[in-house]
Amino acid sequence: MPDLTQVQLLTELEPAAEAELNRHLSLTRDWHPHDYVPWDEGRNFAAMGGEDWDPEQSRLDPVAKAAMTLNLLTEDNLPSYHREITEYFSPDGAWGTWVGRWTAEENRHGIVMRDYLVVTRGVDPVALENDRMANMTKGAHSDDLNGLMRGVAYVAVQELGTRVSHKNTGKACNDPVADRMLQRIAADENLHMIFYRNICAAALDLAPDQAMEAIAGVVSNFDMPGIGMPNFRRMSLTMAKHGIYDIRQH
Ligand SMILES: [Fe+2]
Ligand SMILES: [Fe+2]
Repeated sequence: MPDLTQVQLLTELEPAAEAELNRHLSLTRDWHPHDYVPWDEGRNFAAMGGEDWDPEQSRLDPVAKAAMTLNLLTEDNLPSYHREITEYFSPDGAWGTWVGRWTAEENRHGIVMRDYLVVTRGVDPVALENDRMANMTKGAHSDDLNGLMRGVAYVAVQELGTRVSHKNTGKACNDPVADRMLQRIAADENLHMIFYRNICAAALDLAPDQAMEAIAGVVSNFDMPGIGMPNFRRMSLTMAKHGIYDIRQH
């Protein structure tokens, strides 16, 4: 059987996308970033008469700092992911509604993590902002994700990786406030993973060879979306060495 075209795939898989969107909306629980940040720990920086960041102020160890920074910078690159995902999903119907909803949920993750880090002085806010600027200016691109099938397979694996990373980072922070926040984010990532995983399952039923080829291609050559960012290697090696990516700790 010849491969289905992108338009055929989108059309044939739209009922599955709609069912998954409805399942997601029925299971997801609304939450608000401000409820997860210890605002009473906040104080002004020097530009407003207070004190600038000093490493002594942070209660995070080097592993937690690396994991929080890499995870947040990865969330920050949402505009790139939105652009890519919009290219292989349709802007209309259930696909379009999902892209919008998913983007809004992902944005919450970056908001709450940055608020937490700045208020608790967990990492240097100047370095964090400089890294965000460099990282987002560069953007995240993957030449490998050509088409719907590869895109869906990639995000299914990536959402699982992100869930594991946030959950383990919560434990590594050794701070109940950070742990509660990151467990909340991980619960979102889990629902995202289930959406994409179930679309993969529908694609396997629809076009088994085409879907299997896409999934095998993604799994055999998988990198987390932050791979292009400065210091990715150093931070991700630190995280890997301390079990942040270890699904067994999950
Ligand atoms: Fe996220
Ligand atoms: Fe996600």
